[in-house]
Amino acid sequence: MKTIIIVSGHCGTTMKAARMLAEKLGGADIFDTKDDNASFDFSSYDNFVFGSNMRMFMLNGRFKKWAGKLKKQYKSKNVYGYLIGCMETNDKALAKLSNKLPGNKGVVYAWGEFVTEGVSGQTAGMYENMKKDSLEKGKDLPHIREEELEKLAQLICNISRHLP
Ligand SMILES: Cc1cc2nc3c(=O)[nH]c(=O)nc-3n(C[C@H](O)[C@H](O)[C@H](O)COP(=O)(O)O)c2cc1C
Repeated sequence: MKTIIIVSGHCGTTMKAARMLAEKLGGADIFDTKDDNASFDFSSYDNFVFGSNMRMFMLNGRFKKWAGKLKKQYKSKNVYGYLIGCMETNDKALAKLSNKLPGNKGVVYAWGEFVTEGVSGQTAGMYENMKKDSLEKGKDLPHIREEELEKLAQLICNISRHLP
Protein backbone atom coordinates (compact mmCIF):
# COMPACT_ATOMS: atom_id res chain seq x y z
CA MET A 1 0.00 0.00 0.00
CA LYS A 2 1.56 3.27 -1.14
CA THR A 3 0.00 6.55 -0.11
CA ILE A 4 0.57 10.09 -1.36
CA ILE A 5 -0.76 13.06 0.61
CA ILE A 6 -1.26 16.09 -1.62
CA VAL A 7 -1.11 19.20 0.53
CA SER A 8 -2.58 22.63 -0.32
CA GLY A 9 -2.19 25.05 2.57
CA HIS A 10 -0.74 28.47 3.32
CA CYS A 11 0.78 28.70 6.80
CA GLY A 12 1.75 25.13 7.74
CA THR A 13 -1.30 23.61 9.50
CA THR A 14 -2.38 21.55 6.48
CA MET A 15 1.20 20.26 6.20
CA LYS A 16 1.31 19.52 9.94
CA ALA A 17 -1.88 17.44 9.57
CA ALA A 18 -0.31 15.61 6.59
CA ARG A 19 2.72 14.67 8.69
CA MET A 20 0.49 13.46 11.52
CA LEU A 21 -1.56 11.36 9.09
CA ALA A 22 1.59 9.94 7.47
CA GLU A 23 2.81 8.86 10.89
CA LYS A 24 -0.53 7.21 11.70
CA LEU A 25 -0.36 5.34 8.40
CA GLY A 26 3.11 4.09 9.22
CA GLY A 27 4.51 6.10 6.32
CA ALA A 28 3.31 8.06 3.30
CA ASP A 29 4.85 10.43 0.79
CA ILE A 30 3.87 14.09 0.84
CA PHE A 31 3.49 16.33 -2.21
CA ASP A 32 3.22 20.09 -1.57
CA THR A 33 1.23 21.81 -4.33
CA LYS A 34 3.21 24.99 -3.58
CA ASP A 35 6.12 23.28 -5.39
CA ASP A 36 3.91 22.88 -8.49
CA ASN A 37 6.10 20.00 -9.70
CA ALA A 38 4.45 18.96 -12.97
CA SER A 39 6.91 16.11 -13.54
CA PHE A 40 6.18 14.33 -10.23
CA ASP A 41 5.28 10.67 -10.89
CA PHE A 42 2.02 9.69 -9.15
CA SER A 43 1.62 6.38 -10.98
CA SER A 44 2.87 4.07 -8.21
CA TYR A 45 0.40 5.20 -5.51
CA ASP A 46 -2.63 3.16 -4.40
CA ASN A 47 -4.04 5.85 -2.11
CA PHE A 48 -4.41 9.55 -2.86
CA VAL A 49 -5.22 11.83 0.09
CA PHE A 50 -5.92 15.50 -0.64
CA GLY A 51 -5.61 18.08 2.16
CA SER A 52 -6.92 21.62 1.75
CA ASN A 53 -7.13 24.62 4.06
CA MET A 54 -9.82 27.29 3.80
CA ARG A 55 -9.66 31.01 3.33
CA MET A 56 -12.66 33.31 3.12
CA PHE A 57 -15.10 30.38 2.93
CA MET A 58 -13.25 28.95 -0.06
CA LEU A 59 -11.22 25.82 -0.53
CA ASN A 60 -7.59 26.32 -1.49
CA GLY A 61 -7.28 27.07 -5.22
CA ARG A 62 -4.29 24.75 -5.54
CA PHE A 63 -6.36 21.90 -4.08
CA LYS A 64 -9.04 22.48 -6.77
CA LYS A 65 -6.39 22.61 -9.48
CA TRP A 66 -4.62 19.37 -8.45
CA ALA A 67 -7.83 17.49 -7.63
CA GLY A 68 -8.88 18.17 -11.23
CA LYS A 69 -5.48 17.58 -12.77
CA LEU A 70 -4.98 14.16 -11.11
CA LYS A 71 -8.54 12.87 -11.62
CA LYS A 72 -7.50 10.37 -14.29
CA GLN A 73 -4.69 9.07 -12.09
CA TYR A 74 -6.81 8.47 -8.99
CA LYS A 75 -9.95 7.29 -10.77
CA SER A 76 -8.97 3.65 -10.53
CA LYS A 77 -7.32 4.08 -7.09
CA ASN A 78 -8.59 5.04 -3.63
CA VAL A 79 -9.07 8.73 -2.95
CA TYR A 80 -9.67 10.53 0.37
CA GLY A 81 -9.60 14.07 1.69
CA TYR A 82 -9.24 16.22 4.76
CA LEU A 83 -10.18 19.83 5.37
CA ILE A 84 -8.47 22.39 7.61
CA GLY A 85 -10.13 25.55 8.90
CA CYS A 86 -10.57 27.55 12.10
CA MET A 87 -14.37 27.25 12.40
CA GLU A 88 -15.58 24.59 14.80
CA THR A 89 -17.73 23.02 12.09
CA ASN A 90 -17.45 23.37 8.33
CA ASP A 91 -20.06 21.03 6.84
CA LYS A 92 -20.70 22.96 3.62
CA ALA A 93 -17.03 23.29 2.80
CA LEU A 94 -16.46 19.61 3.58
CA ALA A 95 -19.27 18.70 1.16
CA LYS A 96 -17.60 20.90 -1.49
CA LEU A 97 -14.26 19.19 -0.90
CA SER A 98 -15.97 15.81 -1.19
CA ASN A 99 -17.60 16.85 -4.49
CA LYS A 100 -14.23 17.83 -5.92
CA LEU A 101 -13.00 14.27 -5.26
CA PRO A 102 -15.43 12.04 -7.16
CA GLY A 103 -15.60 8.46 -5.93
CA ASN A 104 -13.82 9.31 -2.68
CA LYS A 105 -13.93 6.74 0.09
CA GLY A 106 -14.05 9.31 2.89
CA VAL A 107 -13.34 12.91 3.91
CA VAL A 108 -12.85 14.42 7.38
CA TYR A 109 -12.80 17.89 8.89
CA ALA A 110 -9.63 18.00 10.98
CA TRP A 111 -10.21 21.60 12.27
CA GLY A 112 -7.01 23.70 12.28
CA GLU A 113 -5.22 26.53 14.06
CA PHE A 114 -5.35 30.32 14.27
CA VAL A 115 -2.33 31.21 12.17
CA THR A 116 -1.80 34.78 11.12
CA GLU A 117 1.79 34.50 9.93
CA GLY A 118 2.16 36.37 6.67
CA VAL A 119 -1.38 37.73 6.99
CA SER A 120 -1.63 41.48 7.38
CA GLY A 121 -4.04 44.31 7.94
CA GLN A 122 -7.71 43.87 8.72
CA THR A 123 -7.72 40.11 8.23
CA ALA A 124 -4.97 39.54 10.76
CA GLY A 125 -6.85 41.83 13.16
CA MET A 126 -10.06 39.88 12.62
CA TYR A 127 -8.35 36.60 13.45
CA GLU A 128 -6.60 38.04 16.49
CA ASN A 129 -10.03 39.21 17.73
CA MET A 130 -11.55 35.76 17.15
CA LYS A 131 -8.71 34.24 19.15
CA LYS A 132 -9.16 36.77 21.98
CA ASP A 133 -12.91 36.16 22.00
CA SER A 134 -12.44 32.38 22.22
CA LEU A 135 -9.95 32.75 25.08
CA GLU A 136 -12.23 35.13 26.99
CA LYS A 137 -15.18 32.78 26.62
CA GLY A 138 -13.05 29.84 27.77
CA LYS A 139 -13.62 28.06 24.45
CA ASP A 140 -11.13 25.61 22.99
CA LEU A 141 -8.81 27.31 20.52
CA PRO A 142 -8.79 25.61 17.12
CA HIS A 143 -6.39 22.69 17.05
CA ILE A 144 -5.88 19.73 14.75
CA ARG A 145 -8.38 17.02 15.69
CA GLU A 146 -6.11 14.04 15.91
CA GLU A 147 -9.09 11.72 16.31
CA GLU A 148 -10.36 12.72 12.84
CA LEU A 149 -6.97 11.95 11.30
CA GLU A 150 -6.93 8.67 13.21
CA LYS A 151 -10.36 7.85 11.77
CA LEU A 152 -9.10 8.62 8.26
CA ALA A 153 -5.93 6.56 8.76
CA GLN A 154 -7.96 3.58 9.96
CA LEU A 155 -10.31 3.84 6.99
CA ILE A 156 -7.37 3.95 4.57
CA CYS A 157 -5.73 0.93 6.24
CA ASN A 158 -8.97 -1.09 6.36
CA ILE A 159 -9.78 -0.48 2.71
CA SER A 160 -6.18 -1.19 1.67
CA ARG A 161 -6.26 -4.51 3.52
CA HIS A 162 -9.10 -5.63 1.27
CA LEU A 163 -7.32 -4.74 -1.95
CA PRO A 164 -6.58 -7.70 -4.24
C1 LIG B 1 -7.15 35.18 5.52
C2 LIG B 1 -7.70 33.96 6.19
C3 LIG B 1 -8.99 33.54 5.89
C4 LIG B 1 -9.52 32.39 6.52
N1 LIG B 1 -10.79 31.98 6.22
C5 LIG B 1 -11.31 30.89 6.84
C6 LIG B 1 -12.63 30.45 6.56
O1 LIG B 1 -13.34 30.99 5.73
N2 LIG B 1 -13.09 29.35 7.22
C7 LIG B 1 -12.33 28.67 8.15
O2 LIG B 1 -12.79 27.69 8.75
N3 LIG B 1 -11.08 29.08 8.43
C8 LIG B 1 -10.55 30.16 7.80
N4 LIG B 1 -9.26 30.56 8.08
C9 LIG B 1 -8.47 29.81 9.04
C10 LIG B 1 -7.47 28.88 8.38
O3 LIG B 1 -8.09 27.97 7.52
C11 LIG B 1 -6.73 28.15 9.50
O4 LIG B 1 -5.93 29.08 10.18
C12 LIG B 1 -5.86 27.00 8.99
O5 LIG B 1 -5.29 26.33 10.11
C13 LIG B 1 -4.79 27.50 8.05
O6 LIG B 1 -4.17 26.42 7.39
P1 LIG B 1 -2.67 26.57 6.83
O7 LIG B 1 -1.81 26.85 8.06
O8 LIG B 1 -2.34 25.27 6.20
O9 LIG B 1 -2.67 27.71 5.89
C14 LIG B 1 -8.74 31.69 7.47
C15 LIG B 1 -7.44 32.15 7.76
C16 LIG B 1 -6.93 33.26 7.14
C17 LIG B 1 -5.54 33.71 7.51
